[in-house]
Amino acid sequence: MLHCRNLNTPSPLLKFGAGVNSLTSLVFKNSHNSLGFYSENHDRVLKSSCLIDLTRSQPLVGGGHCDRREESSISSSGEKMSVRCNTGSHSHNRISIEKEDGSGKTTTTKGSGKIKGNVVLMKKNVLDFNDFNASFLDRVHELFGQRVSLQLVSAVNGDPGNGMRGKLGKEAYLEDWITTISPLTAGDSAFDVNFDWDEKIGVPGAFIIQNYHHSEFYLKTLTLDNVPGHGRIHFVCNSWVYPSDKYHSPRIFFANKTYLPSETPLSLRKYREEELANLRGNGTGERQEWDRIYDYDYYNDLGNPDKGAKYARPVLGGSPQYPYPRRGRTGRKRTDTDRNTETRLNLALSLNIYAPRDERFGHLKLADFLAYALKSIGQFLKPEIEDLFNSTPNEFDSIDDVFKLYEGGVDVPEGLLKSVRDNIPAEMLKEIFRTDGERFLKFPVPQVIKENKTAWDTDEEFAREMLAGINPVMIHRLQEFPPRSKLDPKVYGDHTSKITKNYIEHNLDGLSVDEAIRNNKVFILDHHDMLIPFLRRINATNTKIYATRTIIFLQKDGTLKPLAIELSLPHPGGDHFGCISKVYTPADKGVDGSLWQLAKAYVNVNDSGYHQLISHWLKTHAAIEPFVIATNRQLSVVHPINKLLHPHFRDTMNLNAVARQILINAGGALEATVFPGRYCMEMTSASYKEWTFPGQALPVDLIKRGVAVEDENSPHGLRLLIDDYPFAVDGLEIWSAIKTWVKDYCSLYYKTDKMVQEDYELQSWWKELREEGHGDKKDEPWWPEMQTREDLIETCTIIIWIASALHAAINFGQYPYGGFPPNRPSMSRRFIPEEDTPEYNELKTDPEKALLKTITGQLLSVLGISLVEILSRHSSDEVYLGERDTPEWTTDKEAEKAFEKFGNKLREIELKIEKMNKDQKLKNRVGPVKMPYTLLYPSSEGGLTGKGIPNSVSI
Ligand SMILES: [Fe+2]
Repeated sequence: MLHCRNLNTPSPLLKFGAGVNSLTSLVFKNSHNSLGFYSENHDRVLKSSCLIDLTRSQPLVGGGHCDRREESSISSSGEKMSVRCNTGSHSHNRISIEKEDGSGKTTTTKGSGKIKGNVVLMKKNVLDFNDFNASFLDRVHELFGQRVSLQLVSAVNGDPGNGMRGKLGKEAYLEDWITTISPLTAGDSAFDVNFDWDEKIGVPGAFIIQNYHHSEFYLKTLTLDNVPGHGRIHFVCNSWVYPSDKYHSPRIFFANKTYLPSETPLSLRKYREEELANLRGNGTGERQEWDRIYDYDYYNDLGNPDKGAKYARPVLGGSPQYPYPRRGRTGRKRTDTDRNTETRLNLALSLNIYAPRDERFGHLKLADFLAYALKSIGQFLKPEIEDLFNSTPNEFDSIDDVFKLYEGGVDVPEGLLKSVRDNIPAEMLKEIFRTDGERFLKFPVPQVIKENKTAWDTDEEFAREMLAGINPVMIHRLQEFPPRSKLDPKVYGDHTSKITKNYIEHNLDGLSVDEAIRNNKVFILDHHDMLIPFLRRINATNTKIYATRTIIFLQKDGTLKPLAIELSLPHPGGDHFGCISKVYTPADKGVDGSLWQLAKAYVNVNDSGYHQLISHWLKTHAAIEPFVIATNRQLSVVHPINKLLHPHFRDTMNLNAVARQILINAGGALEATVFPGRYCMEMTSASYKEWTFPGQALPVDLIKRGVAVEDENSPHGLRLLIDDYPFAVDGLEIWSAIKTWVKDYCSLYYKTDKMVQEDYELQSWWKELREEGHGDKKDEPWWPEMQTREDLIETCTIIIWIASALHAAINFGQYPYGGFPPNRPSMSRRFIPEEDTPEYNELKTDPEKALLKTITGQLLSVLGISLVEILSRHSSDEVYLGERDTPEWTTDKEAEKAFEKFGNKLREIELKIEKMNKDQKLKNRVGPVKMPYTLLYPSSEGGLTGKGIPNSVSI
């Protein structure tokens, strides 16, 4: 064996083993001045063929450099042999051997040798929870011995016999298992692989891998150290490789180069197209675990009509009545009862629901754990437990009683405990519900009551959360008074607000209502129109809820003050009679104070439902999925826009698939904990009718809501009408940083608009996204046409914004704000008590109890808190905005530089946020609850931090 790693290391004497033709041993000597091969005794003729054999079987490894042309020659027995190391770095293998036969005739053989590669993979199936602690190492050996083969694919030389696809090298196999390489993450293994190389291969641009082993492994990277004439080539793979018989064609991976389709080397083009075709599949059949196919389908898998009408749900998507973004297709068979509905997986198999293999949580331990946690929560939703929830008489008696949730003192009925114990493994119980199975749980103290236990209940905090809470995307500026409805009067009658000037005029710092509106001081949180069409049906269930409107005044100190709340119900005589409304105004004492508190609770119930279903599920999780699918189907992994967007799609399809199993399905966790119950998803479909893609851009959204106006002289080109609007202030900083990064990056690859127009992958991507992914919106006039660089930049900025910052702002405050149910109740179970009833008397004598009897009950609060706690956690290996999971995501230095600039900008923004949060003039940033606004603070550590912007919708 050759033991050398670097041929330029000055002159160690190296020995080859015996057995190569006539050589018994060979001394290789190297220095900057000489390079030569000598036979040990110098008395034998060295045959060139012998040397070539030698170099083939004994790789010349290492990453050294030959700094100059070096040449040495030896003579022996009248024959002269010259060994040359050609110019350039990493060129040890470009060996020319000239042999003179003594008559002056010279023969030359050149251009062959070995390329050493290093493969990093993970064999362990981390999805197997029971295997978390199992030893990986004892199974590594299974990959030895010609079980895994790799072949290089030439990026420069096409094979005329194979449609000019790049020439293939000889198969090479995983060899020594390297135990010393670092840094390796736990569970990873590294292997040597030595490729034969000759000039026909030239520079490899891809490799093909075949797994002849019986189980899959997760291939992370291949690195070629010393490609002749090129140097190091790195392949970022991050993909599960199943046994070869699972695939129609061998798996191919491309080097981390970036090419527009038209600039792809000819020899890689067909491979590029074929790989995309593989990922698109043929649209038929049930998807299997190992499949990598990205395809579209309707949301036709939420209901289970075979189980009874109670579990039937409309198909969302594909009809004008129920438009919806598409989900990833799974292809399971249809139900017997309704041929348009797909059968569901058994609850116990929830984590097996199909998502393209590399979209699954293979790389994450904690996310796997979270998925298990979600599944465990799903166990709560079995019918027998469901009944228990509905029938349990347990109530919180007082707000102090609620605090016991964080102190570990809430009792639960034995029936529920038994069911929980039977269904959830003990270690999960401990981790998720913090219980030993006897007394139920102890939750972490939510931030909103950490510093001050009572400030959540103030009017100022109630209004502040419209600017800095978890649903800061709903508040509008009021531009006409009284507020009007957009509901069709022919169907719904007159829904103009009943809030008259008399209710509010005394509270406007001396301004008249008209003046206050003209001065941009009046705002509204309006949940009326969204709810009215559903209210009769919702109120026929256990839920009892109003449609609400809240009028808010912007005070001189920059804080908001609620002025009036209108609670409306459909007219009992029929929709065309309009609605019945009651108006409540602020009061802090007596029964009026209690009524005002209840009115605020109904607003919060409306808002928390809107938040969970529409701001969160529909506008981030569901809206992004079609982009994930279209990108994987139409943009090659070597396409610059794929490289730009890919980090922002991490885990989304898998998480959404699990959500369809246990969160948003009929009888799932959302229906159980969010007030519209079985109408939850139908309501999101109604809201999608109003969804526009360009409207998701933060500046467009702010202007549309009237909370900002265009202003060339302001930073980011617009001026906020509520200066201290933490979500908007921080959001605009992040939005602009993303946009600058996207512009810098796209400009590297698209020098002209024509290049955008002529990029056929890009055009197919955009066409498919509009016509398939968001197919129910395909005829909308507002889609960017993707004809200019500006179209491309705005589009990518919106996608990244939704997946990263918008989702973070909406998602990670769920526990900090909603972990204390009285602050963000998600259900209401009764209406405001009528006068002269026992309930009304209780409102007078024990308003806390009356409030707690109205909002979410105790057991569902526990379920809801468990759920939002899980959804608010960062996994320990989360990748945040401005980070990539590998530094080698590109080889383009300019792209790297632009990305670094983006990271620096985000760090600057963090400092700004810290500074603003300490500025006492900016009262909305901390509020009476003393909770600094950090939801758009880019970085975070793992866990329940209330800050940090992950790249993707990953939880
Ligand atoms: Fe989320």
